[in-house]
Amino acid sequence: MVANLVPALSLKQVSKTYKNGFQAVKSIDLTVEQGDFFALLGPNGAGKSTTIGMISNLVNKTSGTIEVMGVDLDQHRSQAKALLGIVPQEINLNGFERPWQILIQQAGYYGVPRKVAAERAEYYLKALSLWEKAQQPAMRLSGGMKRRLMIARALVHQPKVLLLDEPTAGVDVEIRYDMWKFLTQVRQETGLTIILTTHYLEEAENLCNKIAIINRGEIVINTSMAQLMTQLEVESVLLYLNAPAQVAPVIAGMTVRQVDATTLEVDLKRGQMISDVFAALQTQGIVVQNMRNKTNRLEQLFVHLVQQHKEGSV
Ligand SMILES: Nc1ncnc2c1ncn2[C@@H]1O[C@H](COP(=O)(O)OP(=O)(O)O)[C@@H](O)[C@H]1O
Ligand SMILES: [Mg+2]
Repeated sequence: MVANLVPALSLKQVSKTYKNGFQAVKSIDLTVEQGDFFALLGPNGAGKSTTIGMISNLVNKTSGTIEVMGVDLDQHRSQAKALLGIVPQEINLNGFERPWQILIQQAGYYGVPRKVAAERAEYYLKALSLWEKAQQPAMRLSGGMKRRLMIARALVHQPKVLLLDEPTAGVDVEIRYDMWKFLTQVRQETGLTIILTTHYLEEAENLCNKIAIINRGEIVINTSMAQLMTQLEVESVLLYLNAPAQVAPVIAGMTVRQVDATTLEVDLKRGQMISDVFAALQTQGIVVQNMRNKTNRLEQLFVHLVQQHKEGSV
């Protein structure tokens, strides 16, 4: 990215303490460059929605400054608002309104001329596989359709920065794929900056070039996805055997622990393949019936980062 562009989004010492005294966000600094596909990743309750809420002005921040494309949110609220497209975590559509009407209204709200609004409404409804539902009351749409309609609504005034809070909640796998393909295309064609929150590392990993991890209201790490992935070195898998193992299995170059008679735990380093594990076990007469990851990778990443944090290397 060009270094001298203003950041798409800049948060400086932003905090939120809710009325009950709970500090959900603790003086975070965050910069998202123009054109980034940025993931704000963290477990439930980490403070993601609170952060998105403060950027969208749905949550009053307790302190700090927020700028969108260099425009201060407190000083120039409507100008900043026009630069943002927001898809909140909770569905907030009027169920009696129809997708077509919702998009035309939203465009009108931002001063888009009627004719242009109609062209865009058609474009976004088609691109997000909602064209057939354009004239149905929103309440009759499935959860995934409602989510896509919220995306169309967030884009219809053509913002510079799109914020998506847990956008794949309730969206089917195929539609999810189409949704990401579409957003990736919009980003490539228009330079749209996309910021999404998720608690799925895999989703962030596949889509985003930058990532920040938030935990208990604090940013634990803020880096490029490529850099982060090099830190994720070991993944533990649990293997369930079809019969008790007679001998303690050995796999060259890997650590194998016997949890119980029919359960093994194997550490896979980066680049090692599970198929090699199966093959090595098979030669020892051991058949794997089922497997699962011991912890999810996000959890492992946290443990790893917290450890590094303690050792002072981050
Ligand atoms: N209105 C509220 N009043 C008090 N605490 C809240 C409120 N909204 C959220 N919280 C708390 O703030 C923390 C962060 O919530 P949230 O930002 O929704 O997390 P995330 O989106 O990462 O799951 C949670 O512990 C949540 O219970
Ligand atoms: Mg949330």
